[in-house]
Parts: sequence; C-alpha cells; structure tokens
Amino acid sequence: ARIEKGGYKHYMAKEIAQQPTVVGEVLNAYVKDDRIAMNLGGIDFADVDRLSIVACGTAYYAGLVAKYWFEHYARLPIDIDVASEFRYREAPFAPKTLGVFVSQSGETADTLAALRYSAGKVDKIVSLINVPESSIARESDVAVEIHAGPEVSVASTKAFTCQLTCFAIMALKAAHDRGHLDDTGLAAHLADLRQLPGLMSHALTIDTATKEIAAKLAEARDVLFLGRGQMFPLALEGALKLKEISYIHAEGYASGELKHGPIALVDKATPTVVMAPHDGLFDKTVSNMQEVMARGGRVVLVSDARAAKEAGDGVWQSLALPEAPELIQPILYAIPAQLLAYHTAIAKGTDVDQPRNLAKSVTVE
Ligand code: G6P
Repeated sequence: ARIEKGGYKHYMAKEIAQQPTVVGEVLNAYVKDDRIAMNLGGIDFADVDRLSIVACGTAYYAGLVAKYWFEHYARLPIDIDVASEFRYREAPFAPKTLGVFVSQSGETADTLAALRYSAGKVDKIVSLINVPESSIARESDVAVEIHAGPEVSVASTKAFTCQLTCFAIMALKAAHDRGHLDDTGLAAHLADLRQLPGLMSHALTIDTATKEIAAKLAEARDVLFLGRGQMFPLALEGALKLKEISYIHAEGYASGELKHGPIALVDKATPTVVMAPHDGLFDKTVSNMQEVMARGGRVVLVSDARAAKEAGDGVWQSLALPEAPELIQPILYAIPAQLLAYHTAIAKGTDVDQPRNLAKSVTVE
C-alpha cells in the first residue's frame, strides 16, 4: 500500500515526528522490565573480543556512535568502516570477532558485498536492518529489526534513531555479559533509555526556534558542525543531512580538530553549529567556541539550558534541548540535526524528500 504523508508537507517531516513512537516500539520489542530481551541467537559478549562494524551513510554514523558506547560501557574494541572501503581492503580479522552490518534498506550493494566478504571469516554475522525480507537480513546469522517502519524520505531520520536505540541496547547487553555492568547498573541505564520517547517529544518542540535559525543558515555557503566524543558522529550526521537536502556545503569535525584545519574557514559568513550537551567535556567545547568567536565566527549552540548558561555571551544562536542522561544524548541530538537541515531546505526551496542526484537505496557500486 502507498504510504501517506498523514497531514505533513513532506515524508521527512512525518518521519522526524514519528521518532518518539518508533523508538518507543524498539524499547517495547527489546527491553522487558529491567532485562534486555533482544534475541541475538545466543551471543554472549563475554566470548567476543572485537566487533567489526560496516555500513554506509547515516547507518555508518550510527555505527560510529555505537563505537563510543561499546568501548565505554562494555570495554569492547570496535573496528568501523564505510563499506566501500572495507570491501576492497581484504581486512584480516582477529579471532572472536563479530561482523556487524547496518543498513536501513538491507540492499546497499557495498554493505552486502562487505557482508559476503566477512561471512566465514568472522564468528557470526549480525545485521541491524529495517526490512526483514532484505538481502542483508537473509544473509545474516542474526538480523536485528530496527522497527522504524517504512522510511520514504531519501534523507534517513527515524532509521538513524532506531539504529542507535538498538545499538545502545546491544552495548548494554555487552557491558552486562562482560561484567562491566551489574543488574542494578543495567536497570538504571534501561530506565534512561525509557526516557527517550518523552524527551524526544519534548525535543520536537524546538521546531519553531529551529525554523528561525534555519532562515539564517540558508544564507550561508558553508556551515561547519562540531562535536566531541559521542557527539562527534552527530556533527557528521548534521553536516550530512544539511548537504543532502539543502545543498549547502557542510563539514562535520571533531571539535578538537578545529585547530588542525577547519578554523582557517571560519569567518562571519560561515556559521559553526556546535552539538554539545552538558557533559564532562563541555569546558573543552566552550574553549573551541571561543576560538571560533574570536575570529568573528558565528556559533549556533545546540545544547541544554545548563550548558547554554555556562557558555556565556557571544553565542550567535542557541537551541536548548532538555537535559538528558549521557547515554541517550546522541539519540536526542539527532532531532535538532534533522530539523536544522529540514527547515534550511524549506527556506531554500529544494526538494526535501527527493534531493537531486541521491537515491534512497544504492544497489549499484
Ligand atoms: C543512501 C541513502 C542514505 C543512507 C545510505 C545507506 O545513500 O540516501 O540515507 O544512509 O544510502 O543506506 P542503507 O539502506 O544501507 O542504510
């Protein structure tokens, strides 16, 4: 059946708005009370020494966030690659490696080829997919459904947050299996995850504020996105969303890399979007923002009220999200990344759901 826009102007707007619901469905499917109920075909992460994560585009950025989570919470080393690089590199695998493939469509040619390369060389093939009858799902030992429902907009939104939610649950299972999280700790993190639908609904109320900032971003030729730690992949995703649908050149950088190149681009005409919830690294981020502002750069701070206060004067624009537990911050901050791109594209009058030159599913090399 044809999927309707349900009163929204674009599929992308509808899919952004659906996120509290679909993320709630992921939690219903994979979390039962204080326990994880994700069927991973009997995988015990205590017997795993490494994950090799492979994906393309937005799914790759979900994997990049997962790297921070698995390393931090489960002390499990992660290799991660874009599929087009991975498949031709003939990468060797260490023993006890799991291959993890992330794909909304389950049909991306490079990701499928990377999976086929890995089959038989890794202990097990696990995939995170949205389409259960897809090639990647069929060729995996374990296919974890991300429960996003049909995603029509070429620019991926709800699949990203559902992939992230699945990865967060998996990383917590790994932490528990490997003895880095006891039952009480696990229950506390699962309670954090359960805050997501409510916090995401709250985050969606920044829509109007985002529209005003987007009207200004639409005048820029280049936009820089910065993030640190688990927010670095969100900077990459924010830049990708913006370039995909508004055609504005955007680059995502790790905040600390600013001084190694991108700061040369900073001037009055190049806005810098800083994705920075209040966390242990926030004062480092403040000094990065000051470096930008000292050069006449305009900072759009995407953060929470506490961080905005600590950031002080000089910030050009700010978006305040609700404060959230650290684990779920990258999931929550996907919403401003998506909304900034969406409203900038609307301000520019581009084709939001069908951006030029892009395809929803890339089944050719
Ligand atoms: C295309 C889409 C992106 C998507 C990427 C990976 O480039 O336009 O939105 O992130 O493919 O797709 P997949 O279906 O493998 O997640």
